Amino acid sequence: MLRKEQNSQGGPAAYRNQAELTARRLNPRCQLLTALSHEFPHLTSAGLLNKFVNLFPEKIIRREGLISEDNFNTQVVLETRFEGAGAPSRGKVRDIYDLGDRLLIVTTDRISAFDVILNQGIPMKGVVLNQISRFWFKNTDDIVPNHMISTELEDFPDVFQPYGSELAGRAMLVKKTKPLPIECIVRGYITGSGWKEYQRSGSVCGITLPEGLLESAKLEEPIFTPSTKAELGEHDENITFQRAAEMVGSELAEKVKDYSVRLYSRARDIAYERGVIIADTKFEFGVEGKSGQLILIDEALTPDSSRFWSLVEYEPGRGQKSFDKQFVRDYLSSVGWDKNPPAPDLPEEIVLKTSEKYTEALKRIRGH
Ligand SMILES: Nc1ncnc2c1ncn2[C@@H]1O[C@H](COP(=O)(O)OP(=O)(O)OP(=O)(O)O)[C@@H](O)[C@H]1O
Ligand SMILES: [Mg+2]
Repeated sequence: MLRKEQNSQGGPAAYRNQAELTARRLNPRCQLLTALSHEFPHLTSAGLLNKFVNLFPEKIIRREGLISEDNFNTQVVLETRFEGAGAPSRGKVRDIYDLGDRLLIVTTDRISAFDVILNQGIPMKGVVLNQISRFWFKNTDDIVPNHMISTELEDFPDVFQPYGSELAGRAMLVKKTKPLPIECIVRGYITGSGWKEYQRSGSVCGITLPEGLLESAKLEEPIFTPSTKAELGEHDENITFQRAAEMVGSELAEKVKDYSVRLYSRARDIAYERGVIIADTKFEFGVEGKSGQLILIDEALTPDSSRFWSLVEYEPGRGQKSFDKQFVRDYLSSVGWDKNPPAPDLPEEIVLKTSEKYTEALKRIRGH
């Protein structure tokens, strides 16, 4: 382990040598940022990220295979703009480029808390979310087909080719669909709005649950609890299965319920073995224009669309800390923010810690 004193005597060349040595010792795809922040404690700030890029110029990264091609980029991407690609539509997190029968979805580093987009981005967050979705899309397409076509730059249209480093790891070419107007939520544990509803009525979205459940308890079977898709600035509203069936037709409603529960169950089991509880999650489905096929769209089983808990810290009878946003939420509460925009700025330390948590989530889920 390097010491502060050594660093301060070293100068840039020594930094580079030390950093390279350190990096050689690391698993090639491990969380470089996390490792570096341990090795260089005095750089624990967003400055570390700039240092990182200087210390590991692209050619060293590629030569040593330190980080896979598709997840190399530590610059924060808050908003994208590509010459000739037209204006994207922007969700809270994604910039979406309409390519006719396909979309290029770019997951930025924007982060929202309590439904407000924060001023700071989280380095690597977009890459992490995109890679986690990619992992699940690849590992669940036997249950239901999904929208993913490719995450490789070479498969993207020509206008995007000059923007490789900005897009690396965070973009996905997908089939464009007409999204169903419902969110398909599956809960394996009772928490959040489900826990509130259960306390009031003993049921969630019309499903009666056993009496005496503790907060965060595991449910015997996962339940399907759809909600409406709220417009920007509105909140989603939980609905009964009956209501969902009225909205999309009972055949489609039955199908998405079945798919959602099977997708969730597979992911829950894989994640559990890797120390992560996926307490609940939200899927979206869409109907593809040409084929009329129902497919899984949007993001899949990421910390943004799901509640990830750390298995070792799990304890029923209380609320659990979210794996990824706990530092952000704790910080925002500690400064007494009333949850109305504008949000307070996040200190660099919180930004970096949050980045580490996201990277850790990817590493745990993907296994490297
Ligand atoms: N294959 C697809 N076809 C059509 N629309 C899609 C497809 N995949 C995702 N979308 C849409 O793209 C948008 C994704 O953007 P983003 O996640 O940033 O927005 P959001 O859902 O409004 O925000 P949040 O996820 O924070 O609620 C969603 O509106 C989603 O329905
Ligand atoms: Mg979304």
